[in-house]
Amino acid sequence: MSKERILITGSNGQLGRVLATELRKKYGKANVLATDIRKPDFDNSPFEFLDITNKGRVIELIQDYKITQIYHLAAMLSANGEWDPKKTWDVNLNALLKLLSVSSDNGINRFFFPSTIAVFGKTTPQTATAQDVPMMPETVYGMSKVTGELWCNYFSKRYSLDIRSVRYPGIIGYQSIPEGGTTDYAVEIFHAAIKGETYDCFLAEDTRLPMMYIHDAIRATIEIMAADEKNLTVRTSYNLAAMSFSPKEIYEEIRKHYPDFKIKYSPDFRQKIAESWSESIDDSVARADWNWQHEYDLEKMVKDMIEKLK
Ligand code: SER
Repeated sequence: MSKERILITGSNGQLGRVLATELRKKYGKANVLATDIRKPDFDNSPFEFLDITNKGRVIELIQDYKITQIYHLAAMLSANGEWDPKKTWDVNLNALLKLLSVSSDNGINRFFFPSTIAVFGKTTPQTATAQDVPMMPETVYGMSKVTGELWCNYFSKRYSLDIRSVRYPGIIGYQSIPEGGTTDYAVEIFHAAIKGETYDCFLAEDTRLPMMYIHDAIRATIEIMAADEKNLTVRTSYNLAAMSFSPKEIYEEIRKHYPDFKIKYSPDFRQKIAESWSESIDDSVARADWNWQHEYDLEKMVKDMIEKLK
């Protein structure tokens, strides 16, 4: 029997739903509590409603379920976040701070915080972006995540809370259609191709961004949480990479499977967000510290996505 009892916030989301399934395989179904602000539209039990800005409710769940580890995935993403900056700050940063202090007070032994390529900005070198670089994000989402990274580092060092974090690239998966992100086009495009529709892309054809297949993203999360503490040299957040491509490049790859598939480009406000981010990431520190290795490149990911979605 597993000693660990896990709480996942944001567990109906693109990552949360897949992570919950994987953690239940590892720790047993009853030991992984899924929480979200909305009712799941799939079997995600055990499940409890949780608004992460409600500190009292967080404490109640940690104590009632004797939680020992937290995966804190709930957040408002880059594009959605711009509609209500103050709310985004409250959900992404103020709620994180409450959760970190509650975790420290209630003996949580390990905490996962997802960061993102959105922490980078116009002052960051855009290609092969290294672990430690100037960061001046232009979205409130990026601001909240870079500040969150610093708080994680602070809590790790000052209060010995064992917090682990990665900067996810855009995540591509077949299990859900993500909402509110700038990299979401790379999921939507598959659904259009399979339905035989022309895809109207909200980014320009040559906008290259770092991306990762969901299987790699989930495995990275589980691996960093299992890594030997003494090997972890980064307590803000680790750069993490697998592939980089543009809308045109993924379109060409999908067209190998659907030769009649058509795309058009109508860049909107998300184009400016994408242009402020890195094109490619140097994740050599993660590779050295906890042996990170990606498995899926563009070709392998496209093939698997299409098989799963069909
Ligand atoms: N996929 C996220 C977004 O587009 C980046 O972390 O907002």
